[in-house]
Amino acid sequence: METKIVRLGEGEKDEEALREAGKILKAGGLVAFPTETVYGLGGDALNPDSSRKIYAAKGRPSDNPLIVHVCKTEDLYKVAKEVPEAALRLAEAFWPGPLTMILKAGDLVPRETTGGLDTVAVRLPSHPGARKMIECAGGFVAAPSANLSGRPSPTSAKYVIEDMDGRIEMILDGGEVGIGLESTIVDLTVDPPQILRPGFITGEMLKGVLGAVENDVTLFSAAKDQAPRAPGMKYRHYAPKGDLAIVQGNPEAVVRFVNEKLKEAGQAGAKTGVIAASDTAGKYRADVVKTIGDRRDEEVIARRLYGILREFDDENVTKIYSESFGDEEGRTGGLGQAIMNRLLKAAGHQVIRL
Ligand code: TXA
Ligand code: MG
Repeated sequence: METKIVRLGEGEKDEEALREAGKILKAGGLVAFPTETVYGLGGDALNPDSSRKIYAAKGRPSDNPLIVHVCKTEDLYKVAKEVPEAALRLAEAFWPGPLTMILKAGDLVPRETTGGLDTVAVRLPSHPGARKMIECAGGFVAAPSANLSGRPSPTSAKYVIEDMDGRIEMILDGGEVGIGLESTIVDLTVDPPQILRPGFITGEMLKGVLGAVENDVTLFSAAKDQAPRAPGMKYRHYAPKGDLAIVQGNPEAVVRFVNEKLKEAGQAGAKTGVIAASDTAGKYRADVVKTIGDRRDEEVIARRLYGILREFDDENVTKIYSESFGDEEGRTGGLGQAIMNRLLKAAGHQVIRL
């Protein structure tokens, strides 16, 4: 299939491109599009064939439910069986934006979209192009992240093109995304509500609106005997091809330890890599050192993480050490939780504590 690639941000032309994307979606085709979190791979959420095509294009197991993207809060009533008051309060506080709510699914949503579940994930993105496209598509766009299954979510159109060129009808190129990690997912079908995936909307922010909210226990630990409640979180997502381990401890000790390990790995024939904050990056002796940003600037770290994981793949790095960023135990709020949740998954929970 020939994939049409159109750049957004060109003023009047955008309108035309978004309309065309809407038409493709209505006809059952697939369009990758930018959101404020990561790029999405969109299909008509109410068309079971579109959902099947999404799974096929991603190479994703079809028991993994899709998020239904809407363009206005009222549309919650069309996809959910019940809209609890908590959902309206969250929508008021954080929509449009990087928050996904799990609600009881209404009859309109096919089970192909919900991965066979009787609940539905709903999100109203803040990216204006995304919202316009959803509107042109009839209002309901199912969209997982626009990566091949198992690869990091795409934070820029070039990664979408890498994974999806030739597999879908259209890619809308909106440049780099703003946040770089997927939306926060909160399950409102349980009491108290549970965070199934941490993101830019933090636990503290949710608590401010909901009162009580809990973390799914699998977010920060391997918890092998327990399946994560968001089915997608069980897959080895975000993983680079190389072996990745996180090293925690005081920065000097981490540098010393990692350099020792890099030497051994290099001697054993590995191509080595390090993910480090700007203040320590210069101290590592690896084949490839990626500076992720200032340790205190969590927004920059979040935005860079997935791109860095992909770059290691491109450069065929086989052994990677990462410093620890943010709050690895998930004790407090903050974007650090989302960063560490993704980094821990990328590392298959390999953590070395010094
Ligand atoms: O930021 C985002 O949410 C991006 C952009 C494109 O909007 N989308 C995204 O979709 O990250 P995806 O498919 O990569 O991740 C959706 C996650 C999966 O882990 C899935 O299992 C979970 O949401 N999920 C979807 N519906 C669910 C449901 N009814 N109950 C529990 N988890 C659900
Ligand atoms: Mg994904």
